[in-house]
Amino acid sequence: VSGRSLLLRTASRAETVEIGRKLAQLLLPGDIVILRGELGAGKTALTTGIIAGLGSTDQVTSPTFTIMRHHDLPAEQSGAGRQVLHLDAYRLASADDAEDIGLLELLDNGAIAIIEWGERLLGALGSEYLDIELAHVDEDDDVRTMTITGFGDRWNALDLSVVSC
Ligand SMILES: Nc1ncnc2c1ncn2[C@@H]1O[C@H](COP(=O)(O)OP(=O)(O)OP(=O)(O)O)[C@@H](O)[C@H]1O
Ligand SMILES: [Mg+2]
Repeated sequence: VSGRSLLLRTASRAETVEIGRKLAQLLLPGDIVILRGELGAGKTALTTGIIAGLGSTDQVTSPTFTIMRHHDLPAEQSGAGRQVLHLDAYRLASADDAEDIGLLELLDNGAIAIIEWGERLLGALGSEYLDIELAHVDEDDDVRTMTITGFGDRWNALDLSVVSC
């Protein structure tokens, strides 16, 4: 069942990063964020903000060839000291890969997962996730639209509008 959607507009990479920082405030251990949108839409830019907002000082780079990067979170942000996983599913063949690369076990252990091209893994991820679609408005400028939709009970109960304030 689909939750309410929040539609945002961003006019620069920096603004997208800032939205990511705000989004991070909503995330709890085990959460999944699916990022959709064409090449250059801003998925990695948004992820950079989310990971910074979770308290990591790591530099975020595209995990295109590594598939999955781990970033440790400081203990004060996360109780026992947890991880955020940044995945790029573009090169994964099927949803079964979510099991093979160890993603499901890490989620069970409380990692937060941010998955570029995450629609490819949906079959393995269950019904609770935050879906974010980024889209160019005009190929020639820096404007992007972002549609944020929560799926499942956890996200239906949340007010997404804190992200836009
Ligand atoms: N409003 C915006 N939000 C995000 N990025 C923007 C924006 N305007 C311009 N950009 C630029 O667009 C590019 C977005 O690249 P990014 O790597 O985040 O895209 P991506 O969706 O992760 O692509 P890929 O599918 O290749 O992983 C960057 O060069 C960034 O500077
Ligand atoms: Mg990317």
